[in-house]
Amino acid sequence: MASSPATPALKANTAMQSPLPHNRLVLGIESSCDETGLALCTLPSQGQPALLGHALHSQITMHKAYGGVVPELASRDHIKRFLPLLNAVLDQAKTDLKQLAASAVTTGPGLPGALMAGTAFAHGLGFGLNIPVLPIHHLEGHLLSPLLSTQAPSFPFVALLVSGGHTQWFAVKGLGSYTLLGETQDVAAGEAFDKTAKMLGLPYPGGPALAALAQQGDPKRFALPRPMLHSGNLDMSFSGLKTAVMTTAMRCSATPGAQERYPLSPQDQADLAASFQAAVVDVLVHKAKQAMQATANTARLVVAGGVGANTALRQALLNLGQQQGFEVFFPEPQWCTDNGAMIALAGAMHIQAQGLPTAATAYNMSTRSRWPLGSPSPAI
Ligand code: KG4
Ligand code: ZN
Repeated sequence: MASSPATPALKANTAMQSPLPHNRLVLGIESSCDETGLALCTLPSQGQPALLGHALHSQITMHKAYGGVVPELASRDHIKRFLPLLNAVLDQAKTDLKQLAASAVTTGPGLPGALMAGTAFAHGLGFGLNIPVLPIHHLEGHLLSPLLSTQAPSFPFVALLVSGGHTQWFAVKGLGSYTLLGETQDVAAGEAFDKTAKMLGLPYPGGPALAALAQQGDPKRFALPRPMLHSGNLDMSFSGLKTAVMTTAMRCSATPGAQERYPLSPQDQADLAASFQAAVVDVLVHKAKQAMQATANTARLVVAGGVGANTALRQALLNLGQQQGFEVFFPEPQWCTDNGAMIALAGAMHIQAQGLPTAATAYNMSTRSRWPLGSPSPAI
């Protein structure tokens, strides 16, 4: 189990600052993987920033043909999408570029080229408009995304970040104070969903497809392992589970020894999907109970990231919260997967907390494809 110091995410940009500009807006830009998301939110001197508009382009159709994300294609496509999406959010918010006080852009973690595309766009815009650019940690965006809901959690809370690249538990004391409590030791839960889905012959992106199929299956049919359930800490492992699905599929398959796909009957396929999902949910629910007990003074659990859209997981965590007496908060489904709104919100909250950097101190084109949440933002 690792731990990270509680470090403000914007450490590199703390040369501050003028009072908050009246009635001006923050533009959020997300392009760390296969979604281009832009959003605008307000910058009130106090209280929660309000979302005024958001636009998203998903690259799913483009990557589908390859069975997964092709990084070079992702970067090129982001570049094509920024300007049309920017116009769309300005139209939605009935505003124009002159109202921008700053932009906030995901600078990591993510695909290097995709991060560079967003960061270059943000800096070009920032330079042209003479407004600062704030670097935002993608996972911080996810972690704050439940605050976009009307029923938003207040600090402190425990957060489960469960996405395609991460499965981590954090103690969140406030904005910028994120202490890692435990994490997956191998693949993320989302990656396990995606790879298992691929094994079962489901189309990319696998997670939602597998979840849909699981609804028709028997979650008790196959006894799959619950790795690290009793490890005594908040670390997890999902790689063995993936392998267990593969060996089970090979056993059921009409053509044993097939290399990649295991032709299964529709019922076997649905039962295996349901059994896999049940194993992941069991592990996360068990660890949630442990995480809430370990942070006994915190009665709020926040679940964020793409896998947070999974309805079986949502229901199981809500049930646990009811039994154990803690509240559970999820982002709205549209904010579970990557989007610009969570980045705009994170940017606005940092500006509220720390003031607005001057444009000149805030041009820093660094990105970090690997960047543990809680460690300093990219250095110049
Ligand atoms: O947060 P996200 O959009 O991107 C990353 O930052 O990784 O998460 C994407 C992940 C993918 O692995 C996807 O398969 C998974 O979230 N996912 C789901 C569901 N919706 C998305 N996994 C399980 N059930 C879902 N309903
Ligand atoms: Zn994400």
